[in-house]
Amino acid sequence: MQQRLNAKPKPCFATPVLEGTIEGTEQLNKALTSLFLKMEADNYKNKTRLNTTLGNIFDSPGDLFKQIQHPEVAEIRKLINLTLTSWILETSTFTEAELKANHYFEYESWFHITRFGGTKSLHHHGQCGWSMVYYVDGGDPPTEEYPRSGFLQVYDPRRIRQNPEDQGFMRLKPMFDYGGYSFRPEAGKFVIFPGYLEHEVITYFGQKPRIMIAVNCMIRKK
Ligand SMILES: [Fe+2]
Repeated sequence: MQQRLNAKPKPCFATPVLEGTIEGTEQLNKALTSLFLKMEADNYKNKTRLNTTLGNIFDSPGDLFKQIQHPEVAEIRKLINLTLTSWILETSTFTEAELKANHYFEYESWFHITRFGGTKSLHHHGQCGWSMVYYVDGGDPPTEEYPRSGFLQVYDPRRIRQNPEDQGFMRLKPMFDYGGYSFRPEAGKFVIFPGYLEHEVITYFGQKPRIMIAVNCMIRKK
């Protein structure tokens, strides 16, 4: 009998990351921008200055989604909840009925207004399953001088390519590649990623405020 190879690739340890756009949010984003600037002026701010928040960043408290007396917050909360729910159903074995009947989502949610020179240094949200970032305003686009101004940079925790002498991982195809995941913020866009992934925001060098909503989501049993 002639020998032949019977094998297939197995995507071990695949990292579920979703990026996309919530379309039709132009008016909502404008309303959120006005509201957040007003909340900033009213001093609705995080009393604890985290050591990863550097430079010119306004950081709200983590109870943004409880501020549903503001219809704009109620609306974006609903949209973010729908987006997260559909992603959780896609990446897990939960049925929609099970998820709704037996579980609830516990949110920590806040907004940042980042201005010239603002940086969020390396951190993670490993205390929760899912993290999501939604951009209300991406701010000014990057420039030739600062090509990743304000980008979200997410890192692969496996830390491969430690030995530059080993060419084994130097030319991996994109689905297996290492080196980090870079995301350019634009109004209406979002990223969902596992909270354990370390990430940072590259220093923002624009003039227009860059505004984002961040969400940590824990799924708890009722
Ligand atoms: Fe973060």
